[in-house]
Amino acid sequence: MKPITLLFLFLFGVTSVSFSQSHVIPTPQFYEQSPGESFKFSILIADITGLPKGTSDVLLSWNNTFRHLVEKKSDAIPVALKVRLHQTTEKHPENDFYELSFNGKFADIQYTTPASLLYAYSTLLQLIEDEGNQLSIHPFTLKDHAQFPWRGLHLDVCRHFFTVDEVKRYIDIMSFYKYNTFHWHLTDDQGWRIEIKKYPLLTEIGAYRDSTLNDHYNTSPRTWNTEHYGGFYTQEQIKEVVRYASDRGVTIVPEIEMPGHARAALAAYPQLSCTGMQQPVTGLWGVFDDIFCSKQETISFLQDVLTEVIELFPSEYIHIGGDEAPKTRWKACEKCQNNIRNHQLKDEHELQSWFIRQMDEFLTKKGRKLIGWDEILEGGLSPNAAVMSWRGEEGGIAAANEQHEVVMTPGSHCYFDHYQGDSQTEPLAFGGYTPLEKVYAYNPVPAGISAENKQYILGAQANLWTEYIADFKQVEYMVYPRALAMIQNTWSENKPDYQTFIQTLSNRQFDLLKAWNVNYALSFAKPVFQITKEDRGIVITGTSIEKNPVNMALKCTSQKKGKELIIMGSSIYFSRSGSDTKTYRITAFENKFHSSSTINFINHKGIGLDIEFITPPNKRYAHNLESTLIDGILGARPWNGSQWLGFNQGNVEFIVRTDEKINYKSVIASALNATTSWIHLPESIIVYASDDGNNWKEIARQKVTGEQTKIALKGKHKQLKFVYTALEAIPEGMPGEGYKPFTFLDELIFE
Ligand code: ACM
Ligand code: ZN
Repeated sequence: MKPITLLFLFLFGVTSVSFSQSHVIPTPQFYEQSPGESFKFSILIADITGLPKGTSDVLLSWNNTFRHLVEKKSDAIPVALKVRLHQTTEKHPENDFYELSFNGKFADIQYTTPASLLYAYSTLLQLIEDEGNQLSIHPFTLKDHAQFPWRGLHLDVCRHFFTVDEVKRYIDIMSFYKYNTFHWHLTDDQGWRIEIKKYPLLTEIGAYRDSTLNDHYNTSPRTWNTEHYGGFYTQEQIKEVVRYASDRGVTIVPEIEMPGHARAALAAYPQLSCTGMQQPVTGLWGVFDDIFCSKQETISFLQDVLTEVIELFPSEYIHIGGDEAPKTRWKACEKCQNNIRNHQLKDEHELQSWFIRQMDEFLTKKGRKLIGWDEILEGGLSPNAAVMSWRGEEGGIAAANEQHEVVMTPGSHCYFDHYQGDSQTEPLAFGGYTPLEKVYAYNPVPAGISAENKQYILGAQANLWTEYIADFKQVEYMVYPRALAMIQNTWSENKPDYQTFIQTLSNRQFDLLKAWNVNYALSFAKPVFQITKEDRGIVITGTSIEKNPVNMALKCTSQKKGKELIIMGSSIYFSRSGSDTKTYRITAFENKFHSSSTINFINHKGIGLDIEFITPPNKRYAHNLESTLIDGILGARPWNGSQWLGFNQGNVEFIVRTDEKINYKSVIASALNATTSWIHLPESIIVYASDDGNNWKEIARQKVTGEQTKIALKGKHKQLKFVYTALEAIPEGMPGEGYKPFTFLDELIFE
């Protein structure tokens, strides 16, 4: 039998998307080209006298970054830029409304707010075409304003520390793309990063740790980097960053975490915990039982801290965290239990709500507003609190329907610490899968909010947690280009479709990011493999992000060198191997972004067999149900949600049908062991055989001790029934204890 058959589907010409829109990101609300020719010029001369120094400094610094868009060395043909305050007062001035036009002679900016002047200039720069030795602009008119007032990016400087210059750079690029809110995550278990004069130990002790986890949290055994690591910002540095951001139209919302994520603070002041136990600043990630005690001493301490924070940050909102605070210590603490009794609270959730209310009243008195993660809904939402909805959209929906302000940042679409591409080829990340296309599809207004309560959605924010992000180059890699997709969701009311957005990236935006020297990711451009089950085999098709077929190269890696087969085509049919298992490396090539993807394909005797599931998989983990177990492709590690079939109803049962009686020597069955995600190995695998589907006979039984289980089979059979026995419940002391575990399965390699 021939090992492979090839279907050639060569591409003749690539379809191109035509442009009726500008290449500006975020997409302006209204842009129209005026009649006439593009005007060629060599220098843009802006009259910026009379602007505040902060603003003119920003314009000059952008001119430096984008020198190639404002000045050419050829004969000076100028375009003059007029900058003036907008005369009308009616339309959208609160959302940074501006008008911009070019009439073939001069460019004209009419702005309503300092930020809107910067936004107009950013838009203008993006509309200038670089033609090598000259510049050009096509005459146009443009009106623009933001859809949402909160367009946020977050940065965690606790898990890893970033310098003042790096934070400024983060803000710089945000501002160019019309982000206006920087959420600065300043305190956490692994480091306290803001100087507080009244409590110097917070930074003397709390800003440094002596160990940091190597590899991923789930990697076993864990190993540690024991370098002394840390840093903090002095109050002088903070003032400097706040001023810098303000010049760029960016408000900084500081976050001081409470009552959880407090290990660094408690390392400095252990008396603020429930137990008083002295523990070091931790270098492990995750959620810790030791949190701030709810006693008066802690409340006063945190209000003192907030007093200094308010002095430094003029923002309306102050973020007090509120997420991931286990109630273990509070349950066992006399002072916390006294609080529950004295304030007639039902339980520890109401105690957390009471705790947050102490901060809400304090901040409200000072003329500020409290914002916290959606856990602050548990036990009752404090009267003036705004909610940041991160555990899905439910918290945001509930808060908006209670007429509280909401910032949407659900993990599914807004967490930039998640993988943006195949976890096997991407740098180590937290987990999850949030590719560019998914970010782009996000709508900050969830279904489920009544029309009159939509006004409580302030906007949306993307978050960058930095457990696995040790340097700033990696920060940029995780944020760009996903931040360009995200700003479309909060700024534009008429964002174009995803394919047009990608064209804009390749035609314009990547050149701008290069001028900033931003280390952006091209993960989104990698071709993907589509797998379909065919009669007695599998078809693998390589497709581009534009959903076009792309060419692939194939190499057999299980044969000696010299006998390697290299063939091009966009679709390959593998018929089931009749002889020994062979492995292939398949690479798909994409021309526009010069990217490629590779998978390993194992051609074995079970490829393309029919499988009937008696136990249905969980709907969220049923990707490619009919082929996943017999498509020759092993599930990815770290696990990223697809390429595995996930079950959570106890034992897993399915029948594999062959078209004739086949004698298999053995089968290697794979299962995933990822206990932090509640995914456990099955206990054993039992195989039954039948020829008629009615009478079954047990032919093998194997205890499972690792992720791959080899099971010897005997006899010739038409049907095999597999039964994986699962644990009744997740054992004590493990994440998800007491719940039914998940069983995750991938390839069955028949030999
Ligand atoms: C969070 O991601 N713990 C807010
Ligand atoms: Zn306590």
